[in-house]
Amino acid sequence: MRNLLYLTIFVLAVGFVYIGTGLGGDASVQASKLWSSMQDAKYQDNWALWPGKGKLYKGTHPHGALLTTYINEVAANALKAEAKQMPKGSIIIKENYMPDGTLGAITVMDKTGEGKDDYFWVKYTPDGTVEVKEMEKDGKKMSVTLAGKPKGCIGCHVASTGGIYNIMTR
Ligand code: HEC
Repeated sequence: MRNLLYLTIFVLAVGFVYIGTGLGGDASVQASKLWSSMQDAKYQDNWALWPGKGKLYKGTHPHGALLTTYINEVAANALKAEAKQMPKGSIIIKENYMPDGTLGAITVMDKTGEGKDDYFWVKYTPDGTVEVKEMEKDGKKMSVTLAGKPKGCIGCHVASTGGIYNIMTR
């Protein structure tokens, strides 16, 4: 009987770990789901542009020379209401274009929780592949998958723009 109890606990524990990795543990999986949902939503046809910005407005480093920023309905309503923070479910898609108008990358912020820094960050190449940045640290080569909570994205947003938390005031 006792063995059965242990077995049950073991099976449950393995099950939870399995579900845990499947749902959120793997940023690449989450990124490809997000990409599919963006395509299903046909965001280029159906979503609003960032208020006050047209298509292909002049960009700021390191985002493209030309930018087009789309927001979903949750984000659009929050901006209209002048909310202090983006609510859960807000998605901001920034298309980064090169000076000649070629699409270079797509950077996305997906608000997955109510907390002020509950953003899922991702950088895609134009075909929807998550970008992997090759870096060298202490002489060792390493690659950073730009999905989830990449330090580069967060660090700069906090420093140069008054913080992702101030996203509403920009
Ligand atoms: C060196 C600074 C810097 C880095 C690194 C950076 N960003 Fe940004 N980001 C900015 C600035 C500045 C803006 C405002 C640009 C604009 O729209 O004119 C911005 C805007 C955005 C926006 C539109 C929403 C907003 O806040 O205006 C998204 C989405 C975004 N960045 C995603 C990312 C992702 C994903 C990464 C990492 C792969 C990243 N950024 C890395 C500086 C940075």
